Amino acid sequence: MGMVSGKTAIVTGSGAGIGRAAALRFAAEGAKVVVCDVDVEGGKETAAAIERQGGKAIFIEADVSRVQDVDALITRTVEAFGRLDCACNNAGIEGRIAPIVEQPIDNFDRIMAVNLRGTFLCLQAEIRQMLKNGGGAIVNLASVAGLIGFPGLAPYVASKHGVNGLTKNAALEYGKQGIRVNAVCPGGVDTRMLDSLARQSTGGEKTTREMMEPLHPIGRIGTPEEIAELIVWLCSDHASFVTGANIPIDGGFVAQ
Ligand code: NAI
Repeated sequence: MGMVSGKTAIVTGSGAGIGRAAALRFAAEGAKVVVCDVDVEGGKETAAAIERQGGKAIFIEADVSRVQDVDALITRTVEAFGRLDCACNNAGIEGRIAPIVEQPIDNFDRIMAVNLRGTFLCLQAEIRQMLKNGGGAIVNLASVAGLIGFPGLAPYVASKHGVNGLTKNAALEYGKQGIRVNAVCPGGVDTRMLDSLARQSTGGEKTTREMMEPLHPIGRIGTPEEIAELIVWLCSDHASFVTGANIPIDGGFVAQ
């Protein structure tokens, strides 16, 4: 018996990185998985990888910043699997690094649209469905940038602080109806996004590891699989008394 056997789980942005690792882990722990991404090729590859490991998955193309896409995601999930028990709102973008006075407004708007509005739209649609099927558990992807500031990353930092705030509010509003909502706050994790941030901040002079490893007291960056472990645990009944939490998973980053 897996930790989430018999449950149905949506993972947004699961065509790559942390989302893909979470989708694979949900499936390995017995869940039927809905893979969602704007990247059709990546999303289909994740669903195929789940089928190859003996799990059950479908891919649905959706942009989490679009209401119609998010509504269709939930409708098609219920058509395919009958209910929704777990959701990981992971889709996110990092955008441009620049000081506030040089931030292009369209960079701010797009980061907010995907990271904050996207998380809000998903929460709304997922909670509506979970209320119909008697409860559920949701994990939002925030960041250490949802707990402290990072010069050059104001729009991203603002969006992730927003995700942590939404998480607390959703937990307060729906706890008595059997819906738990938590956020994970990773430090540097070995994905395309971290490569982009490292490349932008060093102009390509240092590798991601050279730049990021010394920032973490544990002496290394994290793996997508380490974050997936916490996500799936939080969605499982093992975490039945955990809600409204913004949990660092960061090799000691915010302990400094
Ligand atoms: P990634 O860039 O490797 O993967 C993100 C996935 O989300 C991609 O497959 C992308 O196509 C998809 N996506 C982007 N916009 C979308 C949209 N509008 N609708 C649907 N899907 C969309 O990034 P990574 O690193 O796996 O990040 C996942 C989450 O974890 C993000 O929310 C990120 O902010 C957060 N995070 C990442 C950290 C890191 O060091 N990698 C650290 C802390 C948080």
